[in-house]
Amino acid sequence: MQPSDSVSRQMPQFPESLWRANTDLPSFPRLNEDIQVDAAIVGAGIAGITTAYLLSQQGCKVAILEAGSILNGTTGHTTAKISAQHGLLYDELLNHFGEEKAQMYYQANRDAMNLIQNNVNNLNIECELQPESAYLYMESDDELQKLQKEFDAYIKLGIPGQWRDKLPIPLHVSGAIEMPDQGQFHPLHYLKPLVDEILKAGGRIFEHTTITTLQKEGPFTLTTYRGKHKVRCSHVVSASHFPFFDGGGLYFSRLHAERSYVVAIKPETAFAGGTYLSADKPKRSLRTASWNGEELVLVGGENHKTGQSICTHNHYEELEEFGGKLFGIQSIPFRWSAQDLVTLDKVPYIGQITSGDEGIYVATGFNKWGMTQGTLSGMILSDQILGKDNPYTPLYTPSRFKADPSVKNFVVQNADVAKHFVAGKVGLVNRSAEDLQPDEGGVITLDGKRAGGYKDAKGNLYLVDTTCTHLGCECEWNEAERSWDCPCHGSRFTYEGAVIEGPATEPLEKLDGHE
Ligand code: FES
Repeated sequence: MQPSDSVSRQMPQFPESLWRANTDLPSFPRLNEDIQVDAAIVGAGIAGITTAYLLSQQGCKVAILEAGSILNGTTGHTTAKISAQHGLLYDELLNHFGEEKAQMYYQANRDAMNLIQNNVNNLNIECELQPESAYLYMESDDELQKLQKEFDAYIKLGIPGQWRDKLPIPLHVSGAIEMPDQGQFHPLHYLKPLVDEILKAGGRIFEHTTITTLQKEGPFTLTTYRGKHKVRCSHVVSASHFPFFDGGGLYFSRLHAERSYVVAIKPETAFAGGTYLSADKPKRSLRTASWNGEELVLVGGENHKTGQSICTHNHYEELEEFGGKLFGIQSIPFRWSAQDLVTLDKVPYIGQITSGDEGIYVATGFNKWGMTQGTLSGMILSDQILGKDNPYTPLYTPSRFKADPSVKNFVVQNADVAKHFVAGKVGLVNRSAEDLQPDEGGVITLDGKRAGGYKDAKGNLYLVDTTCTHLGCECEWNEAERSWDCPCHGSRFTYEGAVIEGPATEPLEKLDGHE
């Protein structure tokens, strides 16, 4: 399918997030020497930056090592709601973890919201932080019972909330739960001042620096791609989505990657305030944001497992249609997508990477709620590194193992990976490179074998081996982002084969000699 034919006339041709478009971020050098620090933090999203910020304020010498550019992963492409209302969750937490831990989850996220507010106050950060009620709503009558059970869980856990039969926006619902005093902000305008504070405290930041190995000597030595340079440190934090170091924790089988989409619309009618999330399918999310002094509505949703969608353009079009029906559309200045990791029991893995690996920490699997849970990661991990007790350690520890529902989800998830591993290897498509139109990509047959091709608008052809360099699944073409996406663990590659997103660290093999 050709993007130019399939994208609506109003939709921007290329994806770009509003947050990145209106933030002037500094750039940092590649690591080109061996260094020694107290704590090395791999990944420069909200979790890595908050951890580095909190540690640096306590006199800890930190370095952040980012494989791409800072704040260009999920943090740069989130919807940036700040909330403890994470969909239909509390009833499930109550059943699987019990009352004490379900309450702890709520309180942990409230504490993270308070830290964001305190940082904004103390550092005078202008990031459009504003309080909003969060609404979790159900459109269909059939599943209303699930929302009612969720509300019962709020009552049992003492979580503030009100049942609503109507929403402030013109959307007919069968019921909704309003959680007051939640919020939204501009994530990069919030995090850029934290980056400045890290640098002022003597912290160092390196971009385009991929860490590929961790050796337990010195006590730890990290090595950059192709062994060029080394970072020696006493503590290591993996805040890079899929951990760059597994440590036998089997993270590849305990996480799955999902993509979701956002269109930023300039509405024809005023938005009544609040943030919104559907509890039933299709997934929908709404909030406002400002751009050039005007209010935009961010319409999000359409989640699917990475590499497992037939036509990614359709997702943008569905969101456009939904937003258009509710508010009318004058224009669509931005569209973008994000990738999130989800754990087996929907609670992130934050803490020591395995029970035997003291000094090596991970923060991942924020289940699409990275603003609070990424901030929380910084709080938990900085406490652990500084030797302080943190009340949320037991709930978030990656070494927990809940037999229910994790065992079932573990089996389902790995069966899904196996299915895609096999499916990608069988059968050839009846299509060759010559069949590709300008600005079109897809799987083709080349010399009797499966290959990936993309022809740019000028007719230049880019051919790659679609075999993912992580564990060998076959990547699928994502026409909306012009990328190769792996259905097994979510690695993503440009049409030229360069890594956009791990766990893969090696590029796809080029088949045509384009450099
Ligand atoms: Fe694991 Fe592709 S991301 S095989």
